[in-house]
Amino acid sequence: MCGIVGYIGNQEAAPILIKGLKSLEYRGYDSAGVSIYNDKINSVKTKGRLSNLEKKLDTVSLNGCIGIGHTRWATHGEPSDVNSHPHMNSTSTISLVHNGIIENYMVLKEELEANGHNFLSETDTEVAVQLVDYYYKQSNNLLDAVYKAIERIEGSYAFGVLCNDEPDKLIAARKDSPLIIGIGEGENFIASDIPAILEHTRDIYLLEDKEVAVVTTEDITIMDMNKNIINKEVFNVTWDICAAQKEGYDHYMLKEIYEQPKVIKDTLTPRLPLDVNNITLDNITLTKEVLRNINKIYIVACGTASYTGLVGKFLIEKIARIPVVADVASEFRYKEPILDEKTLMIVVSQSGETADTLAALRLAKKAGAHVISIVNVVGSTISREADDVLYTLAGPEIAVASTKAYSAQLCAMYLLSIKIGMELEKISQEEFIELRKELYLLPEKVEKVLEQSDAIKKLANKYINSKNVFYIGRGLDFAVSMEGALKLKEIAYLHAEPYAAGELKHGPIALIEDNSLLVGLTAYEQLYEKTVSNIKEVKARGANVLAIALEGNTEIDKIANDVIYVPRTHWMFTSILENIPQQLFAYYISVGLGHDVDKPRNLAKSVTVE
Ligand code: G6P
Repeated sequence: MCGIVGYIGNQEAAPILIKGLKSLEYRGYDSAGVSIYNDKINSVKTKGRLSNLEKKLDTVSLNGCIGIGHTRWATHGEPSDVNSHPHMNSTSTISLVHNGIIENYMVLKEELEANGHNFLSETDTEVAVQLVDYYYKQSNNLLDAVYKAIERIEGSYAFGVLCNDEPDKLIAARKDSPLIIGIGEGENFIASDIPAILEHTRDIYLLEDKEVAVVTTEDITIMDMNKNIINKEVFNVTWDICAAQKEGYDHYMLKEIYEQPKVIKDTLTPRLPLDVNNITLDNITLTKEVLRNINKIYIVACGTASYTGLVGKFLIEKIARIPVVADVASEFRYKEPILDEKTLMIVVSQSGETADTLAALRLAKKAGAHVISIVNVVGSTISREADDVLYTLAGPEIAVASTKAYSAQLCAMYLLSIKIGMELEKISQEEFIELRKELYLLPEKVEKVLEQSDAIKKLANKYINSKNVFYIGRGLDFAVSMEGALKLKEIAYLHAEPYAAGELKHGPIALIEDNSLLVGLTAYEQLYEKTVSNIKEVKARGANVLAIALEGNTEIDKIANDVIYVPRTHWMFTSILENIPQQLFAYYISVGLGHDVDKPRNLAKSVTVE
């Protein structure tokens, strides 16, 4: 949801801002802009991708060593030049970029209009800059004006502010939207996320909610809402910049798909030492005593991460016999969920910043529940606010559609489920040793699936013109089918629906016609025969069938038009193997249709608004 970059130092700001914004484009890409100070603030902004902004900047040179930039995912007002950020006050002396939503913007706007302020755009953000302007006129002090403005603003924000009359500083402020400060030498940075500044520094401050920073060339002062100075620890980024680059692959998504064997290994093996017959879950205490005090588990997340929750529910209930509710965070928080000290909540998030997931976490904590987060981005808000964090070690995921982060989340969920099962004595030492052996074999089994990439590409081209695609499965396969259908919708823009295999005949089967495609997932062997019967029902009504099956289950060949086989593993872990063909299938269809795989239309990777 919108990317922010700010620079103050001795170098030309424009190239630094543009490069930073490029690495934040995953947060939104419908318009972009920069403001740079050089005697006065000059701004260039435009509708469309960053490349449009770059073209515009080729014709208008913007010099200066202090500036702010923004890449947008529209919430208020369509993507257009005028709605793009930065937004300015009427005299163009204050410029502001914003990520988040100002909920009371209508009230503030009316008030400001009554005071003679004119608005050019339809955005909520313009209200913020006009409000800063309003207070600046009273105090002639930018910091005071920003403080006064944020006291009035309801909603979420990460702001970067630049002022003509105080050109020695940038002001940054955050509430419920991520913002970091990069610490350089003789230069400093602000950004929505680490990749934007990693080329310049590995040392950063993570701003917390309701913190304000004054950033100059030499200094960074961070304060609370009462202007008390906060001494923050420096956070050192350990991962490498090339982890956030394409490295020869056509798309980030393909690179990330191919990284999965490593990601799975990295996420699993440190938690599965070979010299101890137990799982070490970082600092998470999930002992028998803790678990016996729990009477219910919620797994809450959004999008792809919510499908990890469905797998988790299935595994934990089957193994540990504790009731688990898996829910999407946007619904969960409005259901008056029953939360207390006997509740364990597991939240799952790649970014660690998703607004609804964060709100669910806060709701649970307020009610006294214990919250474990499964998060990919180290130091993100969710990872910091949860009682415990189990990091997925997937490295930066840049493609908007999640692939490697999902596989890593599944691994984390396998570990948690096994750990809970062991503590509750539902999994014996012998069984654990067997499971550990299988987990160690997963990366090479994933490699084997990836080796079928060319064959899957051919299938993608064969079925590229399918009209309606149905993904079906039972048990664990049903959870995996959700992710398969989502990938196809997200990047190929094909109508795809997941269904519990047995449910199809209760309605959706009416949609089946000659050009329909059914992707039948059959790796959950306990229900294999039943799923195969459901596949036959659809085949008989004219659909093409692409099945995904475990090696050896060759009778499916007689029913399906095509079959992708994946290696056999323990039933608990089939989800990860079965999903890889779904990723490749969606990827190649998207490429074949000429879509922008890494930046699909209308989407953003990090959704920091409700
Ligand atoms: C967005 C992304 C999805 C992602 C979801 C949850 O909708 O486009 O790919 O699954 O947010 O994001 P999170 O960072 O919480 O996993």
